[in-house]
Amino acid sequence: MSTAEPTTRRRRGAFSSRKVFIFAAIGSAVGLGNIWRFPYVAYENGGGAFMIPYLVALLGAGLPFLLLDYALGHKYRGSAPLSFARLRRGAESLGWWQVGICFLIAIYYAAIIAWALRYMIFSVDEAWGAKPEEFLFETFLQAGDPGIDTTIVVGVLVPLAIVWGVVVLVMALGVEKGIGKLSLYFIPVLVVAFAALVVRALTLDGAATGLDALFTPHWAALTEPGVWGAAFGQIFFSLSIGFGVMITYASYVDEDSDMSGAGMVVGFANSGFELLAGIGVFAALGFMAQAQGMAVDEVAADGLGLAFVVFPTLISEAPAGALIGVLFFGSLVIAGLTSLVSVLEVVVSAVRDKLELGRVTAALAVSVPAAVVSLVLFSTTSGVHVLDIIDHFINQYGILLVAVVSMLVVAWSLRALPDLADHLNRTGSLKLGRTWFLLVGILVPAALTYILVDALVADIKEPYAGYPGWMLGWLGWGAAGGVIVLGVVLSRLPWRPETPLTAPYDRPDADQAVKKEEIR
Ligand code: ALA
Repeated sequence: MSTAEPTTRRRRGAFSSRKVFIFAAIGSAVGLGNIWRFPYVAYENGGGAFMIPYLVALLGAGLPFLLLDYALGHKYRGSAPLSFARLRRGAESLGWWQVGICFLIAIYYAAIIAWALRYMIFSVDEAWGAKPEEFLFETFLQAGDPGIDTTIVVGVLVPLAIVWGVVVLVMALGVEKGIGKLSLYFIPVLVVAFAALVVRALTLDGAATGLDALFTPHWAALTEPGVWGAAFGQIFFSLSIGFGVMITYASYVDEDSDMSGAGMVVGFANSGFELLAGIGVFAALGFMAQAQGMAVDEVAADGLGLAFVVFPTLISEAPAGALIGVLFFGSLVIAGLTSLVSVLEVVVSAVRDKLELGRVTAALAVSVPAAVVSLVLFSTTSGVHVLDIIDHFINQYGILLVAVVSMLVVAWSLRALPDLADHLNRTGSLKLGRTWFLLVGILVPAALTYILVDALVADIKEPYAGYPGWMLGWLGWGAAGGVIVLGVVLSRLPWRPETPLTAPYDRPDADQAVKKEEIR
């Protein structure tokens, strides 16, 4: 037996088993989106009212789109740009567009993990004192008025540098030894820590009031397109779909794996976790409401500070508060890291495929510049505003827009859905047919287009969150438009002669070709 074989076989990168892939995919999906973002998006969009659009978005759009991503990556066995290029050379720019989106998500995502890391330490002595909201924005982030200010906040810079140090290391270790192992070890820790946290939150006085607020449906909200937009945006972000992660991960999976079955496991695990996070945060809100004699929707400011305000208040007031704090912020750090590496892997694998670079070179060439941009933008006093704007615009006019365009291109221009369904159906336990074509080809693009047009009208009528026009222009519209231009430009660069652009399954020696892809 040749001892060199396994290493050679995995040169491009491959998960050693379907189990590792599922752990990595759950690690990618379960992230800040579930614990930090979902509760505040649900809270801002009417609490209980949000659950119905959320479930519709999950079942009607999220899971079908997840399978589209899996089919593309698994059939074409490449990073997002290579998979699209193999589908049709002219579609490559869609992949680079997703790579640009991932770069932007990665740089701000790391900042929130850094906040959580710092808050884990703050939890021990309740550093926020009596006013957690003031502490978050004024003492910790030192956020000034919206604008660009380059004063460095050391309290953010240091944990952010630590986060990037860990990420660079994991990326350099590669798909199996870095990402696979990180997810395999940390996901179980995350589940146990988070379950303990939720049980603790549920036993607090007033928890039931919080849960009522989360689960009581307000039917009137269903008529608001903005609530639907928030739900679709949340599902796409949370499932890691529409920005290349699941295409990339699927390209590292053995050709005989049941991908549609894996998709169901990942999709439901992710939403299960998200609901658990919602339950934990709303139980905590109920406790705070009862303690302060207020209604749940009046108890905390909404927005991206919610988790960083609610939990500190809870930690200060509830018994065993420090333990709750370490569990909560520790969970955020772990969930965030396993997602951040997946987002960055989209960029690393694209650069590797295009330039035929070695793993460590590509990992460093991508992660180090990303770390520098992230440190420069987010460890200053304007970091929180920059983050808020990029998060809003890149979700709507990045993720959702590229999702609509790619569905339309794949379904209508390239008419590739039947082939992709056949591919997944070869080994999949869930058979895709007409319902999937109808959803991916017509209903989801139609719903997303309606949502996007509504969001566009709202963003044009009223500046997002009252930010100055020039900030929204550069950081919002500029970032969302910039990644489209980048996508087109990068897709014009030639591929290396050693990169075959035909789909491995379509080559005459299909079996060998699929294997050879891993050796490249
Ligand atoms: N899917 C990741 C999250 O939910 C990006 O945070």
